[in-house]
Amino acid sequence: MRGGSRVGTFVRVAELNEIAPGELLRVEVAGRLLCLANVEGTIYAVDDDCTHISGPLDQGELDGCVLTCPIHLARFDVRNGKVLRGPARDDLPTYAVRIEGDAILVETPE
Ligand code: FES
Repeated sequence: MRGGSRVGTFVRVAELNEIAPGELLRVEVAGRLLCLANVEGTIYAVDDDCTHISGPLDQGELDGCVLTCPIHLARFDVRNGKVLRGPARDDLPTYAVRIEGDAILVETPE
C-alpha cells in the first residue's frame, strides 16, 4: 500500500548481554550491516557504513551518544544519525529498536 504509514518488521539481531553500555556491535539485517550502540542501557541502531567512504563504524569509538568513525574521525549522534563533525556530510540512516526480554530486535531496512 502506498502512502500509508510504514510498519516495519522487527527481527531479532542480538542479545542484550552481547553489548555492554558504551559498546558497539555489528549485526546483519536483511543483507545490510548495522551498528548497534549501547548508550547507558539504551540501544540504538544505525548503518555500519560511514556515510563518508564506508568506514566500519562498529570499529569506531562510542562516547556517550557520539560515535566516531575509525577512518577519518567523522562524528555522528547515534540517537538520530546526525553528522556532528565532517568529513562526512550525510546523516546516518537509523533504525527502530525494540527490546523483548533479553533480545534486541531491529526494524528491517527497506
Ligand atoms: S570513512 Fe568515516 S570519516 Fe571517512
